[in-house]
Amino acid sequence: MRHAADIRFDFSLVLEKNLRSGDGLTAGHLRKALRRAEKAALAVARRHAGGEIGFPDLPFLAAEARRISRDAARLRGRFTHMLVLGIGGSALGAKAVLEGVGGAGARKGLALSVADNVDPDAFFPLLRSHPMKTTVVVAISKSGGTAETNAQLALAVESLKKANGRSWKEHLILVTDPEKGSFRRMAQEEGIVSYPVPPNVGGRYSVLSAVGLLPLAAAGVSIEKLLLGARWMEDRFRGKEPEDNPVLFASAVYAHYLLADPKAVQVWMTYGEGLSRVAEWWQQLWAESLGKRRPDGKPVGQTPARAVGVTDQHSQVQLYQDGPADKLYTFIKWAEGHASGRVPRAGFAPGMEMLGGRPLRDLFDAEFEGTIGALWNAGRPIVRMEIGARDEDHVGAFLHFWEWVTAIVGECAGIDPFDQPGVEEGKKITRALMGEKGASALRERFLRKMKRRTPAEIRFRGNG
Ligand code: PA5
Repeated sequence: MRHAADIRFDFSLVLEKNLRSGDGLTAGHLRKALRRAEKAALAVARRHAGGEIGFPDLPFLAAEARRISRDAARLRGRFTHMLVLGIGGSALGAKAVLEGVGGAGARKGLALSVADNVDPDAFFPLLRSHPMKTTVVVAISKSGGTAETNAQLALAVESLKKANGRSWKEHLILVTDPEKGSFRRMAQEEGIVSYPVPPNVGGRYSVLSAVGLLPLAAAGVSIEKLLLGARWMEDRFRGKEPEDNPVLFASAVYAHYLLADPKAVQVWMTYGEGLSRVAEWWQQLWAESLGKRRPDGKPVGQTPARAVGVTDQHSQVQLYQDGPADKLYTFIKWAEGHASGRVPRAGFAPGMEMLGGRPLRDLFDAEFEGTIGALWNAGRPIVRMEIGARDEDHVGAFLHFWEWVTAIVGECAGIDPFDQPGVEEGKKITRALMGEKGASALRERFLRKMKRRTPAEIRFRGNG
C-alpha cells in the first residue's frame, strides 16, 4: 500500500537510558510530559472547535484549493514571472515549500521570486530584474498594515503602470484579510483580484492558505499533494492513541526541554538541499509562537538556531560538542537523495583510499551519523527526523506536523502561541517613526527616550 508520506521521528537519544548524561528524559519524565501534551492538545482542539484558530482546517478547504489551482493555471498561461511581496509569515512558507520540493525550476511554472526585505540594495535590483509586461505581482499582507509590504506594493504598482499603462491592475493580486485593512480597501476600491486569509489563521500558520498556495501553484508545485500530506498528518494526529501519536510524542519531548529541563537554544541541523529554507520557516514559527511572557510575567522561549550539515560541522559543532549544555538538537534529513555519483577510485592523498569508488552520498550519510554520534558521546539531547522523500506530500505533512507541535508546546507553556505582541510593537514604532498620522505622541516619546540614553559609542574613521 502506498503511504501519502513517511516521516520518522526518532527520540531515542533524548531518553536518559541511552543518553546517560543527566540531560535525558526518564520514563517518569516522559509519562508526565505526555500527560501534559495530551491536555494541551485538547485545549488547542477546543479553541479550534470554537472557531478561534483555523490552521487545522486549511488542509480540508477543497473549494478554495480548486479555485487557486484553476487561477494558477490561467496565470501560467499568461505570465512568465511572479513576484511575491510579503514578510514573515506572508513569505516564509512559500519559500520553504518551493525549496523543499526542489527549488525554482524544479516544477513547470512561473519563475517565482519572494521579496521579503526592503533593503534597497536588494529590493530595487530584484524589482528591475522582472519583465513587468509578463510579471504578475502578488502582494500578501494579512493585516494590510505592514509598512514594508506597503512600500514594496507602491513601488511595484509604479513599475506595473509604467510597463502596462491602464492594464496594470491585471498584473496585481492581493492576499489579505477578507474584510479589514488597507489591502482589502485597495482591492475593493480599485477592483483588484484578491484572495482571503482566514481571520483565525495567523501569518506563520498560513502556508496552507492562499498565502502559500497561490504562489506555489503558480510555480507548478502540486498544492493538491501538499494538502494531501497535511491531511495525512492530521489523521496521524487525530486517529492515534497517545502512545502511537507522533505529534503528541514530539510535543511532549519539546515541551520537556522548554519547561522541565529548559534548554535556551534548539538547533536544527539539516542535511539536504532545500531543508535550510524549511528551517527558516520553522525558525519563525518557533520563535514568534513560543517567545512570550506568561500571564505571571515570567518569560519563556527557546532560541531557534539553524545549522547546515555538513558545512557547519566545521563551524558550529565544536561549540555544540564542548560548549554549554544549554541546547537541544534536532537533526533532519531527507531519507533519500536524488543525485547519484561516486567518488573516483584513484587520485587520493595517502590514507583516504576508503573513499574510493564509494557513492558520495555514503560520505554525506556518514557525516550525519558521525555528528550525531559525537554529540551523543558528549551527552547532548538529540532528536532525529527523516523525511521519506523530497516531494509535496512529505513537505506538506512535515510542515503541518510542526504547526501542531508548536501550538501544543505553546499551550503546555501557558502562553498564546498564536499572537505576536512583540512584532506588533516593532511595527507600531516603525510606522510612528515614518510619520504615521495619529502616532506623533508615540514618535516623540520614543525619540525623547533615545535622546536621554547614556551615550556609549566609538566611531572608527580616518585615513591611513
Ligand atoms: O506570523 C506573523 O503573524 C507575522 O510574522 C506576520 O506574518 C508578519 O508580520 C507580516 O504580517 P502581515 O501579513 O500582516 O503583513
